[in-house]
Amino acid sequence: MSDMTYSAAVITVSDKGAQGLRADTSGPALTAMLTEAGWSVDYTEIIPDDYDKIRQTLLHCADDLHVCLVCTTGGTGFSPRDITPEATKSVIERECPGIPEAMRAESLKITPRGCLSREAAGIRGETLIVNCPGSEKAARECLGAVIGALRHGVDILRGRSGECGSHHHEHHHH
Ligand code: MTE
Repeated sequence: MSDMTYSAAVITVSDKGAQGLRADTSGPALTAMLTEAGWSVDYTEIIPDDYDKIRQTLLHCADDLHVCLVCTTGGTGFSPRDITPEATKSVIERECPGIPEAMRAESLKITPRGCLSREAAGIRGETLIVNCPGSEKAARECLGAVIGALRHGVDILRGRSGECGSHHHEHHHH
């Protein structure tokens, strides 16, 4: 995998999806949005709402696959099994609160229930992990709120473009 590609993984967290009891439309929707935006979605998986399984999958994506971005969908609500943000927070080294803040700000324009989604986002090594809600509609709306900013974040995280607004770096392609 070239270091200059924007590689991504999309992880669907859903008990029913993992058991084959519900077709996963949210994962493919996020994959399509990322692909459209120029990301290379190299890895997708459907896993149950299991804390250790979520952690293992995120660690695999960050530490073994070394993808630039991991987007999860599902497990961010209030049901007792929804623990994706907790599993995410347990593997990240630095939280990125602005990403879920932007998602919720955008969601609240659409529905007052937007305040019920508990997404987290953060950095592990050179990988950015972003939670999205479980429903396809909400997942699309939330990723749509931040997708335009994510490449720049990855560029800085991977030392590809120096500081924001640095003309020296902006005009040089490595
Ligand atoms: N955010 C957006 N943008 N659009 C939505 O339709 N639905 C809300 C909220 N955030 C919604 C949204 C609802 S009804 C819930 S219960 C929470 O997300 C949690 O969703 P999740 O369990 O699918 O993660």
